[in-house]
Amino acid sequence: MNSLLSRDDRRLTLTAFEAIRRTLNRHAGLWFSLDMRTTVERRLRERLTFLGLESFDDYASRLEQDQGELEEATELCTVNETYAFRGMRQLVAFREGIIPRFAPKDRITVWSAGCSSGEEPYTLAAILLGSGKISPERVKVFGTDISRRCIALARRGIYSPSSFREDSDEANHLNCEHYFNQNIDGTRTVSAELRNVCHFKHANLLDTAIGGFIDVVFCRNVLIHMDERSRKRVVLGFFERMSPGGYLILGHSESLLNESVPFIVEEICDEIVYRKPEINGGGSQ
Ligand SMILES: C[S@@+](CC[C@H](N)C(=O)[O-])C[C@H]1O[C@@H](n2cnc3c(N)ncnc32)[C@H](O)[C@@H]1O
Repeated sequence: MNSLLSRDDRRLTLTAFEAIRRTLNRHAGLWFSLDMRTTVERRLRERLTFLGLESFDDYASRLEQDQGELEEATELCTVNETYAFRGMRQLVAFREGIIPRFAPKDRITVWSAGCSSGEEPYTLAAILLGSGKISPERVKVFGTDISRRCIALARRGIYSPSSFREDSDEANHLNCEHYFNQNIDGTRTVSAELRNVCHFKHANLLDTAIGGFIDVVFCRNVLIHMDERSRKRVVLGFFERMSPGGYLILGHSESLLNESVPFIVEEICDEIVYRKPEINGGGSQ
């Protein structure tokens, strides 16, 4: 019977799709709309072959019982697109408007939540060190992601030229190139200075805390893949872990403007950022 099933007979039925997306949603907050059914089918099809399963219905049942397979499916279904100096205008706002506010304390802790392969936290670290406003030994940048493969790549810290495709004037103006050493094969390796301040950890935003208080959270292009309930849970999790007066920066297509969350909306260098109120309601300086 098994051998009579060609690859194409194993379609992702609507019932199996709904079961799989429910399980992925419970685990990671991810949300797949109905028009993503073929994408999910394409990404998970090889797992049926690997596991010797006859149908996606069998795979859906397997996912509910097998934590290892659930992690594998999550790896395959997440979008890990990222590159260095992505979202330049927000990075300029970080450098010009946010970093200076932490200079008097000479200490800052930044969290890149959903950091993928690490280009974002290394970029933030390069901007921080390059600003010269905070002593390097008092700069901490955490990068976390639900993908173990991405975290392994981030720890390795060697990137192909496509990771450096942002070539705007502002990116060049930041003059951070020397933190990413050019190799003869065209790749770049992050410098020891960046490695010293960046720390990576595998973590699910739905259930994991990172220790200590965070001054600035960058969570860009992550919430867009989640449903409303999970987005709110993640954002409230940030709020709890942020220091008073701390900043949350989301991706351009992600907004809290319609959500009932306790952040204050601020505009810095024409960019919208979210701020946790100071305990006394005052400014951070
Ligand atoms: C599109 S990448 C964004 C990378 C980077 N922030 C940027 O803007 O370039 C989204 C990342 O979020 C991660 N992610 C999705 N759901 C997550 C969750 N529940 N917990 C932690 N990371 C998650 C994915 O694994 C993926 O690497």
